[in-house]
Amino acid sequence: MTGAAGNIGYAILPRLGCGGVFGEDQPLILSMLEIPPAMPALKGVVMELQDCAFKAVVGMQATSDPNLAFKDADVVVLVGGFPRKKGMLRKDLIQKNTAIFKSMGEALNHAKPTCKVLVVANPANTNARTALQSCTKIPAQNFTCMTRLDHNRAVGQIAERLGTQVKDVGNVVIWGNHSATQYPDTAHGFVEKLGNKESINVAVNNEEYLNNEFLKTVQSRGAAIIEARGASSAMSAANAACDHLRTWLVSGTAPGEHTSMGIYSKGHYGIQKGIMYSFPVICSNGQYRVVEGLPVSSFARSKMIATQNELIQEAKDADEILKRSKL
Ligand code: NAD
Ligand code: LMR
Repeated sequence: MTGAAGNIGYAILPRLGCGGVFGEDQPLILSMLEIPPAMPALKGVVMELQDCAFKAVVGMQATSDPNLAFKDADVVVLVGGFPRKKGMLRKDLIQKNTAIFKSMGEALNHAKPTCKVLVVANPANTNARTALQSCTKIPAQNFTCMTRLDHNRAVGQIAERLGTQVKDVGNVVIWGNHSATQYPDTAHGFVEKLGNKESINVAVNNEEYLNNEFLKTVQSRGAAIIEARGASSAMSAANAACDHLRTWLVSGTAPGEHTSMGIYSKGHYGIQKGIMYSFPVICSNGQYRVVEGLPVSSFARSKMIATQNELIQEAKDADEILKRSKL
């Protein structure tokens, strides 16, 4: 894990240690990367992990050398990056993180060629694309970026609206970018009532709410949390990272259900190939596949294209930065 002494790292590590992702019987070696100024803080995190005496944790290393951190890794979670600061534009964030994620991609050549990668650091989709482009040993389909937090947010909003339990809501879809252009789509979702599944849209019975308030609430939830907490989401982000990894690599999706993951686009639903785009996916045996053939309304199509176009622009910006700085 990179950025291991940061807020999300601090919230993910105990979940991993207590077996909340890979199970209590799966021995884990935790390899934690930080930048040199954060190494003293990381030392404290390692001390706390020791003091947790997690039975599943059979080894730990803390380092500021990415090649060492990723050596022979089975799973890498990229959380570390340059955070957006006051007055920074999206382009500035891409500028800083493109260099970091190029070096992460290169260092990932030291991981196992079968390594599975989850990118959390923002801009998550474009960082993941930069990393996979710079890594020659791990196939593009092993790189994913996190939209599970947006997915969970959408489920939470619908459950609250319907006065039902989160466990009874399923198959929402997050399309596109982990940004304000993402399209949280309920058209394929269900809510379970007394053992029967009803369409979310029928149960909510308010298109105006679904196409406006619901959409905006999920799209801008990250900003609303920053406003309320004075810091970006960390507990819910760590929880979503654990959900993403567990669903993908351990449990799979439940029968008849799908989740949302940012993956390397192979052109499903007419989305441009080669960008990291969030699709509905089914997971089983450590693999994912895109759910095909969902009907797409003209409203949904326009939203899916808008978020695609933002990702195409981000990809162009990142490529330009790499070219100009000859990185
Ligand atoms: P944080 O600032 O608390 O921690 C980030 C850590 O990364 C810091 O400890 C920093 O030293 C480290 N770091 C910076 N550059 C690094 C590098 N090159 N190598 C290794 N470590 C490095 O931030 P946080 O709250 O933990 O958030 C981390 C990232 O996750 C941010 O980019 C944030 O925007 C993003 N995020 C994504 C989602 C999502 O849903 N995809 C949700 C929440 C936050
Ligand atoms: C989130 O969605 O909570 C994070 O990506 C933080 C942000 O900048 O919105």
